[in-house]
Amino acid sequence: MLSPRLTLLLAVATPALMGVGTLMGSGLRKLSRQCQEQIARATGVADEALGNVRTVRAFAMEQREEERYQTELESCRCKAEELGRGIALFQGLSNIAFNCMVLGTLFIGGSLVAGQQLRGGDLMSFLVASQTVQRSMASLSVLFGQVVRGLSAGARVFEYMALSPCIPLTGGYCIPSKDLHGSITFQNVSFSYPCRPGFEVLKDFTLTLPPGKIVALVGQSGGGKTTVASLLERFYDPTAGMVMLDGHDLRTLNPSWLRGQVIGFISQEPVLFGTTIMENIRFGKVDASDEEVYTAAREANAHEFISSFPDGYNTVVGERGTTLSGGQKQRLAIARALIKHPTVLILDEATSALDAESERVVQEALDRASAGRTVLVIAHRLSTVRAAHCIVVMANGQVCEAGTHEELLKKGGLYAELIRRQALDAPLTSGPTCREA
Ligand SMILES: Nc1ncnc2c1ncn2[C@@H]1O[C@H](COP(=O)(O)OP(=O)(O)OP(=O)(O)O)[C@@H](O)[C@H]1O
Ligand SMILES: [Mg+2]
Repeated sequence: MLSPRLTLLLAVATPALMGVGTLMGSGLRKLSRQCQEQIARATGVADEALGNVRTVRAFAMEQREEERYQTELESCRCKAEELGRGIALFQGLSNIAFNCMVLGTLFIGGSLVAGQQLRGGDLMSFLVASQTVQRSMASLSVLFGQVVRGLSAGARVFEYMALSPCIPLTGGYCIPSKDLHGSITFQNVSFSYPCRPGFEVLKDFTLTLPPGKIVALVGQSGGGKTTVASLLERFYDPTAGMVMLDGHDLRTLNPSWLRGQVIGFISQEPVLFGTTIMENIRFGKVDASDEEVYTAAREANAHEFISSFPDGYNTVVGERGTTLSGGQKQRLAIARALIKHPTVLILDEATSALDAESERVVQEALDRASAGRTVLVIAHRLSTVRAAHCIVVMANGQVCEAGTHEELLKKGGLYAELIRRQALDAPLTSGPTCREA
């Protein structure tokens, strides 16, 4: 109302400035995202080095890890400085632009006053009003810098929150316990890991685990034995073919029920949680009573060493169980799997970290626990699988021979060759197996 011409100037200049600001802003947002990603990389390096501090120390790699961290931090600094300069430039330019608006108002307003088209007082009033707009815009530009940083930091959080697993956690059929026998079939399964799509680990792999029987899987390292166990746990779905439990495709079953109640998995590298032994064993069955925990620990031959600790079952095992020996960790992992009374038991090198005496007792416990269950035993030491109902030898991602220990020996194939090679390790192969003992 004071001056339509000056208002027109503001109305044209403000959106033009905002347009330029938005363009610059998108560049800043990209830079801010890169900066966040670089910070995540640097944190990852530090986390890895600190988490594996013993390995770093064992290889005297402190200096190199420090340098690696420093390099990543240096990149962080460069990116942060670049972002800082960008934001400073943005804020500086926007301040200059807003001040130019004031100058422009004075310049055009002055000529209007000189031409008697506007009174001096009105020009001053207009200036005060337009300065209010200018100050608000300047505050907005400062705020914008913070929004840019916040948005890109938040974007990473939301990105992870929006991730959903390829294999759903719940949903699907649960076989009623009366119909659950634990018969497993791998039917023409082919599989490659998603991160190495061209590399087939299993090729047309077919195997049946009869209910209540022990099947041992042997073969060279990297042959795909753990992969078979992972497919059975449905950590991955096969690329082709299917895995069935009692005639039901695993993909139709409830994964949570399958992992929580049907399958007990003792992995090759058991990981514990940084809490008490009691809680670690109870991880297998959250509503287990103390008595059930003690029974599972006794079954896994862990009760004795746990009781020898001053805090017994309340001993805190440290992050990932670092304060326990390898064998102790493995026995807790066995107790944790046994407490849920699984129908199917997968033992992936379950006794590999134990000394001969512990192995004997744990093997005995496992033999006891195996009774009446479908068991898949994966082992390198062939002495531990001799007593299995069926021994399956894997090679090139396929079953290359199967049968009992005697049958395979008689056949004189790959298994006989493996036995022959391990015979060099006389005390392990010539000694009686636990079952025989
Ligand atoms: N997460 C993964 N991503 C990509 N490739 C993998 C992954 N895990 C294993 N592999 C590859 O799959 C192949 C089979 O590995 P797997 O762990 O099943 O072997 P394994 O028979 O259990 O060996 P070992 O006896 O040494 O335990 C290997 O070549 C390995 O490099
Ligand atoms: Mg393995």
